[in-house]
Amino acid sequence: MLVSAKEMLNKAREGKYAVGQFNINNLEWTKSILTVAEELKSPVILGVSEGAGKYMTGYKTIVGMVNGMIEEMNITVPVALHLDHGSFEGAQKCIRAGFSSIMFDGSHYPIDENIEKTKILVDACNVLGISIEAEVGSIGGEEDGVVGLGECADPKECKAIADLGVTMLAAGIGNIHGKYPANWPGLSFETLEAVKKEVGDMPLVLHGGTGIPADMIKKAISLGVAKINVNTECQLSFAEATRKYIEEGKDQQGKGFDPRKLLAPGAEAIKATVKEKMELFGSVGKA
Ligand code: 13P
Repeated sequence: MLVSAKEMLNKAREGKYAVGQFNINNLEWTKSILTVAEELKSPVILGVSEGAGKYMTGYKTIVGMVNGMIEEMNITVPVALHLDHGSFEGAQKCIRAGFSSIMFDGSHYPIDENIEKTKILVDACNVLGISIEAEVGSIGGEEDGVVGLGECADPKECKAIADLGVTMLAAGIGNIHGKYPANWPGLSFETLEAVKKEVGDMPLVLHGGTGIPADMIKKAISLGVAKINVNTECQLSFAEATRKYIEEGKDQQGKGFDPRKLLAPGAEAIKATVKEKMELFGSVGKA
């Protein structure tokens, strides 16, 4: 059964580890992530972007697939199904479709509008027992080939959003989605400490988990980060393993690649990436 991310994140914050959010794109990715979480007895959050939601034909399909896998694979560890960087409308759709957790990313709105929209969703989530993540200070990333450096959140704005009753807060601390550029100055621990001071015990979320050095990850966890999002690293390992398999050209037998065999090396590569991250985040054995 899907669970809200609230309890797993509060436990992580108290125990000074972080739960990984791994984004899913299809059945293979989902199966790999759930397999590793169960093997390592780690709680896990499956992230779904709005684009991935559309790709998989809609949020209801994903809820059906994940619930089915949890039952058929005998998954016993806590699993939250979470909308990643949701719009206001996307968040409402996921709530209706049966997601157990949502993120509303209102960081591009003026703060008053971010507060107003977040509040409406907090009220809906509270009634249904769904966890909700909000964002202050946008996360950097590549757009049209240019990598924008991440913003640093205003700690007072973080407090205003945290006070609405969100479950977890993503505060920009110079983090970036995708690969970090060579001139990246690193995470702003000064901002993280200032945010933590304002929001107290609220679990904090670190986006852009790909490529952050291990010592920075550990320091961020020690300062209140309880959830870390990873997507690009799974994408890279999946693509590399698939490319290699195609180049080797085995198993074709005159009728092209067997689709299950074709996707198997990528699925194995994702397992290795997820295992490495869960070990780094300290969530192994915490389910
Ligand atoms: P990366 O793609 O950098 O791992 O970031 C993922 C993320 O933060 C999703 O919200």
